[in-house]
Amino acid sequence: MPAPRPGPALTRARPGPIIAAAARAASARAAAAMNAARIAESRRLWADHFGGRPALAALAPGRVNLVGEHVDYVGGTVLPMAIDRHVFVLAAPAAARVLRFRSAQLGRSWELPLDRAPGDLPAAPAPGVRLLASVVRELLRAGVPLAGADLLIDADLPAGAGLSSSAAVEVGVACALAHVAGAPWDPLAIADCCRRAEEEALAVRCGPMDQVAVACGRAGAALLLDCSAAPGALAPRAVPLPEAAAFVVLAGGPARQLAGTAYNDRRRSCELAFATLAHAGLVVSSLRDLHVDALPECRPLLDPVTYRRLQHVVGELPRAREMAAALAAGDLPTAGALMDASHASLATHYEVSTPWLDEAVARARRQPGCHGARLTGAGFGGCAIALVERAQLERFVRAMTAPGGAAGGGTLSGSTVNAFPVQAEAGARLLPPE
Ligand code: GLA
Repeated sequence: MPAPRPGPALTRARPGPIIAAAARAASARAAAAMNAARIAESRRLWADHFGGRPALAALAPGRVNLVGEHVDYVGGTVLPMAIDRHVFVLAAPAAARVLRFRSAQLGRSWELPLDRAPGDLPAAPAPGVRLLASVVRELLRAGVPLAGADLLIDADLPAGAGLSSSAAVEVGVACALAHVAGAPWDPLAIADCCRRAEEEALAVRCGPMDQVAVACGRAGAALLLDCSAAPGALAPRAVPLPEAAAFVVLAGGPARQLAGTAYNDRRRSCELAFATLAHAGLVVSSLRDLHVDALPECRPLLDPVTYRRLQHVVGELPRAREMAAALAAGDLPTAGALMDASHASLATHYEVSTPWLDEAVARARRQPGCHGARLTGAGFGGCAIALVERAQLERFVRAMTAPGGAAGGGTLSGSTVNAFPVQAEAGARLLPPE
């Protein structure tokens, strides 16, 4: 098996208190045990469906974005972190040049023949199948040699919750396929293939953030990713998280509606703003050229909606670097304030929040020890993320989820709240053999 390429350089973490380090080690052990239990269940499903045992198991994490939302596609800087919820892909080589997929969640199977031209894989109606076909097509186009294989896809990452389950499926499948074929594993190149696959299959003109976070995540760290670089030259930098910082996902709101269309609309607004402002000589190469002080000059040139979108982008652009600096300094109040400001801007200027997300964020902010909260990912539904003092973590989760508690936890707008802490986790990889 080819050796994995070295990941992005990890800045040295400051040694934390012994108790926090022990707690982190214990939670890493618990996570490994949970993965092992999940994989054991996946192996049973494999035996039922394909018979025998898989040759390997790959894992791809989901992600949350801490700040820097809706700026990756304008070449801005983002701060995502891979989380300890995963897609698992079990695989074994097959004699025929055919890929046979089985989804444990959907209880469905598909076949994709490999010996057609890369552009000529079967047109598949269901989005999930289209996504798998597009990943295969992009890997072949990029010259990754693929061999026939059987694959079982399983997950403990909720689908459609805004935690990048699509990117985790794409990268997890790519990781398993590359290793079955003995091809080199280059996380950034694979992330780029998977981003293109998602754009093609799901018609969402997404930026590079999700796939890079899933492929290149670092344990105990967020990733500072400057998206102005060309896809092949992206260089995520690990930002170690302070021991006192805990992140909690708040999920359970109504499902996303028409997210792809609305997402593409936002991107078009940014393109319109850029074209108009470039024509007026106010920007040269991207919206990054614009300082927040120049906004009043832009206002008369843009329609009100496009101007609001621009206000979000220009305000959001510096936040990822500022939050990375705050985390490096262990300054959680400043990190939290940046999350709050981001949420307010996404809600009012970018208009991608929902009543449920606003309520979840407001309730989180009322809890002791919560430094900040915001919707994470594209919005239009999905989930929120809260930055909580580790010492207050259990109490926070209880308050957000306990039915009818003093803090009013349990439900929001009639939907049950699911609050779960997430740890920063390494990117897609093979699991040790059984
Ligand atoms: C989705 C996209 C990302 C990014 C976020 C918003 O998750 O896939 O590329 O644009 O929305 O920040």
